Amino acid sequence: MRGLAVVTGTTRGIGTEVARQLAGDGWQLVLVNRDLTRAQALAEELRDSVAASVCADLADHRSIDNATREITARFERVDLLLNNAGVQLGPRRNSAQGIEMHFEVNTLAPYQLVRGLAGPLLAAHGTVLTVGSRGMLHTRGLKVDALLNPTNNRPLFGPYTQSKFAVAAVMGGLAREYADRGIVFRVCCPGPTKTRGTTGEGMPWFLRPVSAIAFKPATRSAAKLVDALDPRFGRETGLYIHDGKVRPMPPQAVDPAVQRRLLEMCRDLTGV
Ligand SMILES: NC(=O)c1ccc[n+]([C@@H]2O[C@H](COP(=O)([O-])OP(=O)(O)OC[C@H]3O[C@@H](n4cnc5c(N)ncnc54)[C@H](OP(=O)(O)O)[C@@H]3O)[C@@H](O)[C@H]2O)c1
Repeated sequence: MRGLAVVTGTTRGIGTEVARQLAGDGWQLVLVNRDLTRAQALAEELRDSVAASVCADLADHRSIDNATREITARFERVDLLLNNAGVQLGPRRNSAQGIEMHFEVNTLAPYQLVRGLAGPLLAAHGTVLTVGSRGMLHTRGLKVDALLNPTNNRPLFGPYTQSKFAVAAVMGGLAREYADRGIVFRVCCPGPTKTRGTTGEGMPWFLRPVSAIAFKPATRSAAKLVDALDPRFGRETGLYIHDGKVRPMPPQAVDPAVQRRLLEMCRDLTGV
């Protein structure tokens, strides 16, 4: 057995495939989804590898809190937290807490999951792998003040890319904080992938034909995430990986002042 992996968002897309590949590599899985009925088919398919199927709406702080309590009560060690679940939306939406939805699900939820699972992650000297986006390298910087109330709501290039930029910085800040305590943090971009997220209204209209033809299948992208756990990367923390290589993050994502500010925001908004 490779250890216990908590994987979010396994109902479809990259999450389904990454769960299959981790199971094939000998991991025991805790599947975290907002709808356990839709999560059931994969849980049954991988039944020998599924230790638990846990309900969490990652746009709801109380729901995440309940899920991390449940996991912590049932498992002493978590060797891997794979923050896969994410949204790429069209028109502006807010969560029940009144927070812009990309920032809520793509940035705050991974932060809150780390805080809630810190005990079993520390016990295992575990790894937190967060699915990022290389789009952060092609944007004009992170606008921290606009995360809660974006002025640019363009699909893909607006709040989605900002939330992925922000989560890279948040994970970088957590990597610093936990560096001496044994949790390893990584961000990995799976590359352009044909999924519901990239074929719907979250994609600009002029890129939809491109995504339908040129984007890769989820199996291939899932393999890139699994590869980010490869022993060749050692126990180095704070890495950003895409296409199997460690790449530089944009300067703001590694700036300790930006990381501190984002961690304070995350703490104030989630209460943990
Ligand atoms: N596709 C790409 O080209 C690409 C590129 C770079 C990064 N990524 C990232 O890769 C990850 C997976 O993306 P994908 O393309 O596979 O997307 P997808 O097919 O849209 O799947 C997204 C997953 O996240 C779950 N999810 C969304 N909101 C949730 C919530 N509030 N609570 C719990 N679960 C929620 C979905 O569950 P439901 O079924 O319940 O909605 C689904 O399982 C995301 O973080 C995405 O940003 C994707």
